[in-house]
Amino acid sequence: MKTLITKSVSKASDIIKKGGIVAFPTETVYGLGADIFNEKAIDKVFKAKKRPNDNPLIAHIGNLEQIKFLASEITPNAQKFIKAFFPSPLTIILPKTKNVPFNATAGLETVGIRMPKNDFTLEFLQACETPLVAPSANLSGKPSPTNWEAVYEDLNGEIDCILQGEISEIGLESTVVDCTGNAPLILRTGAITLEDLQRIIPNTKLYKLKRDEVPKSPGLKHKHYAPRAKVKLIQSSELGGQSAENAGFIGLNTPKNDFKVVKICSSIEQYAQVAFDFFRQCDRAKIEIIFCEKVEEKGIGLALMDRLKRASES
Ligand code: TXA
Ligand code: MG
Repeated sequence: MKTLITKSVSKASDIIKKGGIVAFPTETVYGLGADIFNEKAIDKVFKAKKRPNDNPLIAHIGNLEQIKFLASEITPNAQKFIKAFFPSPLTIILPKTKNVPFNATAGLETVGIRMPKNDFTLEFLQACETPLVAPSANLSGKPSPTNWEAVYEDLNGEIDCILQGEISEIGLESTVVDCTGNAPLILRTGAITLEDLQRIIPNTKLYKLKRDEVPKSPGLKHKHYAPRAKVKLIQSSELGGQSAENAGFIGLNTPKNDFKVVKICSSIEQYAQVAFDFFRQCDRAKIEIIFCEKVEEKGIGLALMDRLKRASES
C-alpha cells in the first residue's frame, strides 16, 4: 500500500470517510485513526499496528455533542471531569452505546472518550464528521510516536495516510480515568495528574494491579514503550558509575561519563516530551543500553516514571 504523506486536513479526512486509516498528530502522541462506526476500518488499525485484539481503543471526538453517540450514560463524575478538563489529554471511561462496535472496545461494555486539545487535531476530527478510534500510531510494543517521522518509521506502507503536524507537545499518552464506579479510578497516568483530578473529585484513586487479577485496562498487561536497547533506571546520586560504551543517557542532570547519545532535559515536562523520541534515536544509533535518570513520582513525573519503568521491564 502507498501511504500518502500530507499536511492537508481535507485529503486526510476524505480518506477516513472512505473507510481508510490515517495517522494524525495530537498533543499527547500521534494516533492512528479510523471511523469508530466502521468495523472494517477498525480491523485495519489492529492489523497495521499488529495490536493484540484484546486491547481496546480510545474514541476521539471533535466536539462535545459527539459524546452522546458513544456513551449510554454520562455519570456525575464524568460530567465534572468533562466540564473541568475537556478538551485535554484526559480519557474518560463510560458505558458504551450499542452503536460503538465491540471490535473498538475489545469486547468491553465500556468506551474510552477523549477530546484532544490541539487546534489542528480538532480541525481534522471535525472534518471527519465522526469520532475516530485512535491508538498510538506505533507498532505494538514500540515507543509511542511523538512526530510524524516516527510514524513513518513504523507504519509507512501499512496505512493509507500520515497527516503531518507538529511535534507532540506532551509526549506521553493521555491520562485514562474510569468514571463508571463510585470513585474515579486512574487506569493510566498522564499529563492530567492525580492531583489535578483530585482537585475536582477528591476521592479519585490510582488503580494498582493486584497479582493474578484481570487488569481493568487490558493495555496494562501488554509489553509497552520498549526500545530495542535495554533500559536501566538510575538515581541521580548514581550518575558516574556506568560504562558509557555504546550507551545512551537521558535525564535532568549532566552525567560525568561520555555517553554516545545524551539528552539533558531542562524540566520534567521536557523529559516527558522527548523520552520516547530519545528511545528511537538510541535504537537508530544502535545503542545497547539506555540509562534514564529517575524523577520524583508526582505530577507528570508519575506518568513519566510509569513509562520508563515499563520500558525497563522488557
Ligand atoms: O493520548 C492518547 O491516549 C493516545 C492519543 C493517540 O490520543 N492514544 C493512546 O491509545 O494512547 P492506546 O490505544 O495506545 O492506549 C489506550 C489505552 C490502553 O491502555 C487501553 O487498554 C485503555 O486505554 N483503554 C481503552 N479503552 C478502555 C476501556 N474501555 N476500559 C479500560 N481501558 C481502556
Ligand atoms: Mg499505545
